[in-house]
Amino acid sequence: MTFRQLQGWVSSLPLAYDNLAIRRTFDTPALAAAFPFTSPDLTAELGATAVLYGANLSSASIVAWDRFAQDNHNSVILARSGAGKSYLAKLEALRSLYTGVEVAVVDPEDEYARLCHAVGGAYLHLGAPGVRLNPFDLPPAGDGDPLTRRALFLHTLVSVMLGEPLGHAGKAALDRAILAAYRQAGISYERRTWNRPPPLLRDLAEALAEDPDPKAKELAAGLAPYVTGTHRQLFDGPTTTRPDSHLVVFSLRDLPEELKAVGTLLTLDTIWDASPTPATPGPAWSSWTKPGCSCGIPKAPASCCAWPRRLASTGPACRWSRRMPPICSLPTPARR
Ligand SMILES: Nc1ncnc2c1ncn2[C@@H]1O[C@H](COP(=O)(O)OP(=O)(O)OP(=O)(O)O)[C@@H](O)[C@H]1O
Ligand SMILES: [Mg+2]
Repeated sequence: MTFRQLQGWVSSLPLAYDNLAIRRTFDTPALAAAFPFTSPDLTAELGATAVLYGANLSSASIVAWDRFAQDNHNSVILARSGAGKSYLAKLEALRSLYTGVEVAVVDPEDEYARLCHAVGGAYLHLGAPGVRLNPFDLPPAGDGDPLTRRALFLHTLVSVMLGEPLGHAGKAALDRAILAAYRQAGISYERRTWNRPPPLLRDLAEALAEDPDPKAKELAAGLAPYVTGTHRQLFDGPTTTRPDSHLVVFSLRDLPEELKAVGTLLTLDTIWDASPTPATPGPAWSSWTKPGCSCGIPKAPASCCAWPRRLASTGPACRWSRRMPPICSLPTPARR
């Protein structure tokens, strides 16, 4: 090597030139020490869904982590304003897509549109003119009874729309009307009917109005703003964008205040329906960013956090429930 520093330096560059042609036998520890990413850092168990986060500032190692290899897949990102929380959440979402994870984002600030378009995801801009999400859509056929599940959800949705619990007579009348609306659309408990175009909210209101029960007429009157009135924009037609992409973004910023609760409930329900089930397993990740409780749903997660969960049911590590508690129980922020 004497007087051959230039050749040595050029040979060390990633140019594939060997100007030295010196051979030396290494033992394994010496060779391992030449690996660029070794460090004394603790290592974590990584699986097929590991995500590279970047380089460790205080050592030579790279930071990679696989949330789905942990017992609990949830996380919360806390930092001062402008520190890079959104950047980190987006980076993880993008790199998770590479590993085959499906990602759903609840986006109250409308900051994921560009990212979504860049990767060909489905972007549901709720509250924008002409964007609709039909609560009667049946989920893709799987095991179980989607019609009953949908009917149960519609009970919850209607009570949120009316702003009060339904009571026994109201529930009975609503149940009759829901089934009548599906029947009218040719949809029954038979699997072969589940691909037919689902009914709309106005079909439910008509079924309620035709019911001789006075309670049904009262419910129909309560639904009028959502069918023919000022709140109808989300419901007056079939779903405009099917939320069935590898990345689905639900932008809630432009939802009018009066529709926030209903829109957020619909969003969460749609994410749930699109999630893998035991019949269609696979990893999925949902991210709830920014202030919770602006939605107005009673008991909505009060969070300023990412709300991820793995929705596979293939491994013993997968423990989650539909009514998963918020991962970050910060004090509820004041309503804006
Ligand atoms: N690792 C990074 N590399 C390069 N740029 C970054 C990185 N992290 C953050 N930034 C940039 O810093 C700026 C602020 O980041 P970001 O918007 O993610 O912060 P935030 O914590 O979400 O802020 P807020 O609390 O206001 O929502 C952005 O312009 C972002 O692109
Ligand atoms: Mg942010």
